[in-house]
Amino acid sequence: MLVDFFTRLLYCRGKWICFILFYKYGNKPCSIQLWPEETIIKIVTTVKEMQARSESIRNQEKKIAFVPTMGFLHDGHCSLLRKGRLSCDDLVLSIFVNPTQFSAGEDYDSYPRDLEKDLQLAEKEGVDTVFTPTKEELFGKNFQTGIELTKLPRHLCGLSRPSHFQGVALVVTKLFNIVKPHVAIFGEKDFQQLAIIRQMARDLDFDIRIEGGAIVREADGLAMSSRNTYLSSEQRKAALCLYNTLQKSKKMVEQGEKNSSNIINEMTIFIHRHKETQIDYISICDPETLDDIDSINGPVLMALAVKVGKTRLIDNMILSP
Ligand code: PAJ
Repeated sequence: MLVDFFTRLLYCRGKWICFILFYKYGNKPCSIQLWPEETIIKIVTTVKEMQARSESIRNQEKKIAFVPTMGFLHDGHCSLLRKGRLSCDDLVLSIFVNPTQFSAGEDYDSYPRDLEKDLQLAEKEGVDTVFTPTKEELFGKNFQTGIELTKLPRHLCGLSRPSHFQGVALVVTKLFNIVKPHVAIFGEKDFQQLAIIRQMARDLDFDIRIEGGAIVREADGLAMSSRNTYLSSEQRKAALCLYNTLQKSKKMVEQGEKNSSNIINEMTIFIHRHKETQIDYISICDPETLDDIDSINGPVLMALAVKVGKTRLIDNMILSP
């Protein structure tokens, strides 16, 4: 009897285990699954393997849901995974800190990373596949293609981060071509990013349903973000001014304030009362086009970006009269 052992490292129940996949008896191969399939997360690092896996899942008429992230997962990411889990047979999470969406002087190198913890959370949320390529795998030598949207990036975060959304659009397009999802889920925390991806999917005829997930907040209202980890305890207190700005503005609009400038002026004073804060923008705008709105006569998007110390935080809310 000839026995061949093929071993693979699979991540299962929080431990890296060495796992015997196949035994061959004579010429008749038979595969023995030692663990129930749903407890195993498949970790894929190459484009070719991810594409082949997705192709095979699609050939079985199964639906793929996809949640792209840069890792250091928190409950905001997990809420998107839960949403995805409900609408598919196979749930794919990508973890990739995308260099093309950071410009020089931003926090690409120091961006928080913890793959071990991310995999534990992914397993808890029922993720089937984690795609976590290296930057060489996605943007190897001689890469030269770009994607540019002409209008939506010229607002809000795009003004102070002019190449950011080109980098996002590029990596998301690549990830879509690699993961081949039926549905992809993005958070409303990055409202402009979601709007840009929806627009891009329409413009480029991606056959992918783009879904949004509501903002998940800490108990006191601060929007969850991987970057919150940069904040000192004093800065963490000051960071609450973003959510409080949105709440105060919501009240003003509900009480009949129609003039955007009045709200923005009052909120600028309010934010500056907090230590170490520097406003990047406060905007009241059309939720579709992101064009500024002077007079509030229907639902508007209020969005803001504030630096607390060196950490740039964003938040947003729909305000309705
Ligand atoms: P990242 O910041 O890791 O966020 C991944 C996804 O989680 C995004 O869709 C984001 O909007 C969502 N998210 C983050 N915080 C959230 C919160 N508090 N509540 C709800 N959803 C939240 O966004 C990116 O990565 C990247 O730009 C990416 C799309 C992966 C491209 O590189």
